[in-house]
Amino acid sequence: MNRKVIANWKMHFSLKEAVEFCAILPPDLIRGSQDDYPSQVIIAAPTPYLAHLTHLFPHLSFAAQDVSAHAPYGAHTGETSASQLASCGVRYCIVGHPERRRDFSENDEIVKRKADNCLAAGLVPIICLGEDLSLAKEFGGDCMIAYEPKESIGTGVIPDSKRLAEVFGELKSMVAKSVNLVYGGSVNSGNLSAIKSACNIDSILLGGASLRKDELEKILKNW
Ligand code: PGA
Repeated sequence: MNRKVIANWKMHFSLKEAVEFCAILPPDLIRGSQDDYPSQVIIAAPTPYLAHLTHLFPHLSFAAQDVSAHAPYGAHTGETSASQLASCGVRYCIVGHPERRRDFSENDEIVKRKADNCLAAGLVPIICLGEDLSLAKEFGGDCMIAYEPKESIGTGVIPDSKRLAEVFGELKSMVAKSVNLVYGGSVNSGNLSAIKSACNIDSILLGGASLRKDELEKILKNW
């Protein structure tokens, strides 16, 4: 399914709350029959919860929020490798989120290593880019590329339609046809139709809106 909704929980929820949240998602999603939903949900849960969640909810898709730039095993205290995530049943991984670039000085070189490690381990990297889109050129068809403008993360402000058209037009011309293009930053049920009407956006990445079940459900139904 090409239309995806990535729910990035960031550093929210206890394990109990995470399990409860997944358990009250619509039964169709939990069972993996998505007839009423035009899009697929991917839950980017905190790393320590992933093995448990993939075991409890085998028909939901899960992403890690980050991965080590080192691979695949070794003496790197505190790190989690892409192969370790894959061995927990995880299928996707966000790399280069603006909050990691801001808080951990991650640059494109590190993000590229992380994305390459994901690909080598069979994970689909969700590669986040800001205004500099050049890294997108480095990847083939089996990844997702997310445009995440810094000023839209957690602010309630999304780029205007002209800017969205410009960025996604440029990305579309840079990458293989099969690359899934994602918009992230302040998406909610109120501005969803504006984002939906922009060309070339396949998927969306939610932060705040993914923490509220009603809001997430509305978005899943309408994306
Ligand atoms: P937000 O976060 O939806 O809360 O702005 C978006 C993101 O993490 O990309």
